[in-house]
Amino acid sequence: MNYKIALIRGDGIGPEIVNEAVKIIDRVGEKFGHTFEYVDVLMGGCATDAVGKSYPDGTAETCKACDAVLLGAVGGPKWGSDKPAEQRPETALLAIRKDLGLYANLRPAALRPALAEACPLKKETAEKGIDLLMVRELTGGIYFGKRDKYQTANRGMEATDLMAYSEMEIERIGRRAFEFARLRRHKVSSVDKANVLETSRLWRATVHRLAAEYPDVQYEDVLVDNCAMQLVRDPGQFDVVVTENMFGDILSDEASMVTGSIGLLPSASMGDGAPALYEPIHGSAPDIAGQDKANPIATILSAAMMFRYSFHLAAEADAIEAAVDKALADGWRTADIAKPGETVIGTKQMGEVIRDNL
Ligand code: IPM
Ligand code: MG
Repeated sequence: MNYKIALIRGDGIGPEIVNEAVKIIDRVGEKFGHTFEYVDVLMGGCATDAVGKSYPDGTAETCKACDAVLLGAVGGPKWGSDKPAEQRPETALLAIRKDLGLYANLRPAALRPALAEACPLKKETAEKGIDLLMVRELTGGIYFGKRDKYQTANRGMEATDLMAYSEMEIERIGRRAFEFARLRRHKVSSVDKANVLETSRLWRATVHRLAAEYPDVQYEDVLVDNCAMQLVRDPGQFDVVVTENMFGDILSDEASMVTGSIGLLPSASMGDGAPALYEPIHGSAPDIAGQDKANPIATILSAAMMFRYSFHLAAEADAIEAAVDKALADGWRTADIAKPGETVIGTKQMGEVIRDNL
């Protein structure tokens, strides 16, 4: 088969880590008999520099003509929140999620066996293992609600961000969570703030109705503040965690940190049609950009998710994951995951080691 992949290399370390992922994808192609065609898509701060806006016209259309999208990272201090919206990389990120209908964001957070000692939690907690899948709603809620900023008579300026959710939006993300739980350990934890928010009460009622359709899946409601606490107290209790956009943004950073290796975690964003978008959880790390220091593993594992979910090629995905695990088990470390005194290798060499393992 031939697959067409859109590459958003982006800013900071983005181009370096995408390069390594592309070499891995090509190696998998040689080994398993697939070919890949790449389409470069300009988006992010680099697009602002080149054409004056972070999300150039036609970006979504170009991506829609591909089978999947691989994104490195966008953003950087050069295009900060003081800049107009159309110049900010974050604007592009939200726009592409909306335009491609990527309402389901999957962020797996697992402790990789070779790196168990990197977990910042107590030893007995880490030993229980962590293997959870955060399912974050990605195209609704406060991220996309009406915003306003206006002058009041005697309280200075005032600003509002509206958080709205429809049953349709809740149901489709909830269904994803139950379906993924069936492929895993059959447990869904739905996170909300139903003791305060109306959107959360609708969320909870809607997910409860769905839960009745999945009697084989264990279900629980967890309040968001309690969830934040449970993630550091006993993350091993979670299998699939489903939540709305902003809670998911915050909790997924926490979950990734708990595994001790944010440089290793991939993500996938999908909707009901093609293409889905794959990207590492971490950001563009401008401080180490262009220095061959970045860890390419999260991007390489994002490519593995692409094989699994967009191309339905599980053996290829397994092979990439096994090659990464072997590199780590053999002791290869980039700076972000090295312990004091351990030998450190660069972005390119890490890519090469993983390629050799394939
Ligand atoms: C993420 C990021 C984005 C988000 C930002 C950069 C807009 O934090 O993907 O988690 O909040 O969704
Ligand atoms: Mg975030």
